[in-house]
Amino acid sequence: MALARAATLLVAFAATRAYAADIGYLASPGVDANEFPSPQRPVARIVSPRRSAEARRDALNEAGQIARLLELKPGMTVGDIGAGSGYHTVRLSHLVGPAGSVVAQDVRRDYLIELARRTELLKLTNVKFALGEPHDPRLPASSLDAAILVHMYHEIAQPYAFLYNLTPALKRGARVGIVDLELPTSEHGTPIELLRCELTAVGYRAVATYKLAGGGGYLAVFSPPEGAGRKSPRDIVACGDRAGTR
Ligand SMILES: C[S@@+](CC[C@H](N)C(=O)[O-])C[C@H]1O[C@@H](n2cnc3c(N)ncnc32)[C@H](O)[C@@H]1O
Repeated sequence: MALARAATLLVAFAATRAYAADIGYLASPGVDANEFPSPQRPVARIVSPRRSAEARRDALNEAGQIARLLELKPGMTVGDIGAGSGYHTVRLSHLVGPAGSVVAQDVRRDYLIELARRTELLKLTNVKFALGEPHDPRLPASSLDAAILVHMYHEIAQPYAFLYNLTPALKRGARVGIVDLELPTSEHGTPIELLRCELTAVGYRAVATYKLAGGGGYLAVFSPPEGAGRKSPRDIVACGDRAGTR
């Protein structure tokens, strides 16, 4: 019995090592966090790799709503930023199909290792894994047609640096879709006014905001800064702890 258990543990350990080998930074570092203002408001702690039960999210067609509103299509490369346990990664993988790909990105290596295991079991071959840092997603230049940040924005410890360092990874015309709840950041949400202020501070442009069905929060769509819209890190002014963020 003990021998069988030891053998199982050994196989699990070897499998984890194999997945771990695929997880790392995809790009060299961007600009250092020290160059940017701190958020000057609460940042939620990372407590879980998922927002809520997948069956409940499917019942609300969360992934379908986001795909439709962001116009995600087969053949695209989409970044699932803060992918966690991969609710969206798995669904995006099917949506973009064999001609497209998904970049599952997170700051937690253990979450990405688990997700790599999940995608292997599901035989998904169009998913890449990208380890990031709290201030820098570490994604290759011009690699994404779109990026989604679902229920994770309030956990970004250095939002100004993060958004600035995300910009080069976005192709021309790319859209960024942020899903969050209308709650204080300390309660795992981001008031929409605060979100718009922080993205605008880095030079992103607000394109549209939609209410997701079934109390799923909002989807806010932004286009990244281009040309004269690019700010230098030193010119970025923090929005701070605005009303409703406490
Ligand atoms: C509540 S989970 C949501 C996971 C997934 N997006 C979903 O909707 O189920 C938040 C995720 O964001 C990740 N995260 C937090 N800060 C991050 C950062 N600066 N860059 C990338 N991922 C981050 C966490 O590790 C965690 O996996």
